[in-house]
Amino acid sequence: MKELHEKIIQDGKVLSNDVLKVDAFLNHQIDPPLMQAIGEEFAARFKEDGITKILTIESSGIAPAMMTGLIIGTPVVFARKKKSLTMSDHLFTSSVHSFTKKETNEISVSKDFLQKGDKVLLMDDFLANGQAVLGLLDIIEQAEAELVGVGIVIEKGFQPGGAMIREKGIRVESLAIIQSLEDGKVTFANGESN
Ligand code: G4P
Ligand code: NA
Ligand code: NA
Repeated sequence: MKELHEKIIQDGKVLSNDVLKVDAFLNHQIDPPLMQAIGEEFAARFKEDGITKILTIESSGIAPAMMTGLIIGTPVVFARKKKSLTMSDHLFTSSVHSFTKKETNEISVSKDFLQKGDKVLLMDDFLANGQAVLGLLDIIEQAEAELVGVGIVIEKGFQPGGAMIREKGIRVESLAIIQSLEDGKVTFANGESN
């Protein structure tokens, strides 16, 4: 997606050979017109699929998921990383290990908001090792809901998550796929670079 590639080149910061900082428009400050364009793009890619619900994970998946839900007209549910006071045993839970942060978190979704019969678009801001996506897939299975596909804003193609999820036969749509962050330079899978 051209607009997103341009934004990454303009405002993204390469922190190391494997980490891209996008605090200026996605992970801290949020760019609403860009999120709207992202929502329109996902809505267009999944318009034939009869989606009834979008599932993401707090916090940075919420903004792009929200705009996509607004445009396709479905609710957006985000998995919580900490149990809220008002949530009890009426939950689907899964554990998500972060290789980056070297920690495992229990994620949860209320049984009220994901059910058998739902056709789910799973979304997240980044796809790196794919562990968050695996945890959300586990929750979709527990709910006996149907997965339609996975929508990712930025996929790091040099990390194993994308291949691992696609090998399961799952449709993954990533709006930007980064092939390399070597030498402080962003190179996209389509060959563009800064
Ligand atoms: P995985 O789910 O693909 O296995 O990802 P991993 O454990 O490697 O990532 C842990 C967190 O770091 C996730 O955010 C993920 O979105 C984010 N992340 C991974 N690679 C990058 C990167 O290159 N740049 C940035 N900016 N983030 C990256 P999180 O902890 O869930 O945070 P948030 O959603 O609250 O922002
Ligand atoms: Na995330
Ligand atoms: Na993140």
